[in-house]
Amino acid sequence: MKVRKAVIPVAGLGTRFLPATKAIPKEMLTIVDRPTIQYIVEEAVASGIEQVIFVTSAGKSAIENHFDYDFQLDCVLKEKKKIALGEELNNISNLIDLISVRQKKPLGLGHAIWTARHVVGDEPFMVMLGDDLVLSKTPCAKQMLDLFDEVQESIVAVQRVPENQTFQYGIVEGEAIERERTHRVKRMIEKPAPGTTDSDMAIIGRYILMPEIFDLLEKTTPGHGGEIQLTDALQALGKKREMYAYEFNGTRFDAGDKMGYLKAILAYGMIHHKLGAELKAHIKELAANL
Ligand code: G1P
Repeated sequence: MKVRKAVIPVAGLGTRFLPATKAIPKEMLTIVDRPTIQYIVEEAVASGIEQVIFVTSAGKSAIENHFDYDFQLDCVLKEKKKIALGEELNNISNLIDLISVRQKKPLGLGHAIWTARHVVGDEPFMVMLGDDLVLSKTPCAKQMLDLFDEVQESIVAVQRVPENQTFQYGIVEGEAIERERTHRVKRMIEKPAPGTTDSDMAIIGRYILMPEIFDLLEKTTPGHGGEIQLTDALQALGKKREMYAYEFNGTRFDAGDKMGYLKAILAYGMIHHKLGAELKAHIKELAANL
C-alpha cells in the first residue's frame, strides 16, 4: 500500500491569533516570505504526496487562491518583465493537485478529517496539521512514509514534552520496538488531566491513517472540549490493528501559538539562503544591546 493523499484541515477560526486573523486565515500568516500553509504543502510535495485535500470553512478562500493560477497577475508581471517572480508564482500553483472540501460545522478535528472521506476513499492517507511546522533534513512526512513502507499500519508523529505540558496534547502510551525512534501504541488520551498518564509522548500534527478510521470517526462521540476528537477514534483503531508512534527527527514549531510563531520566523529566517547571514548577525547585535 502506498500513501498518495494528504488531508490538511484548515477550517479552524484562528482565535489564538486575533486580531491578526480577523480578516485573513491563520494559515496565511507569513513566515519570512511565504504563508505557513505553503510550508506544509511543500513538505507534502517533498515527501512524494500526489494530492492534497484541504478541509476548509467560510472565509478561507485566500488559501485556495494562493495555490491557484492568477492569470491577471501573471500578465502584469510579464509586461513588467518580472519573469523570475512570475515563474515563482506559477511554481506555487503547479506544486500539487489540490482539492477542497467544506467542513460545515466546527465539530472538531475528528469531524474535519471525516469530512474528507469521499475524496480519500479506501486507501491509507496522511494528515498534516497546519499549525505544526517541522524543520528537518528529511521532511517529517517523508520519515513517516519510510516507516509506513515497513509496517503498513497507522503511524502518529510524536515528540517528548515536559510533564507540565502534556495536558495540551494528545498523549501516546506505548512500548519501544527494535526500530529506532519507533513505539507500538498501547493507549492514547486527548489532553489528559495532569497526573492521569506517565507518558510524555505528545502527538504532533502528522499522521498516517488506515481508511478504517472513517467508520470509527463516524461512531466517535464528542470528547475533550465537546468536540469529535481524532485521538479518540485512533484509540478505537488501535484496539483493532497495530499502530505506531514515531519520534521524528527535526525541530517542531507550534505556529498556531504566538511564541511558537515568533520562534518559527526566527529559525526559518536564519536558514534563509539570502537573508540568513544578515539576520543572524543582527540577532547577535540585538542581544548584546537590548
Ligand atoms: C490537535 C490534536 C492533538 C495534538 C495536537 C498537535 O490538538 O487534537 O492530539 O497533540 O493537535 O498539535 P489542537 O492543537 O488542535 O488542540
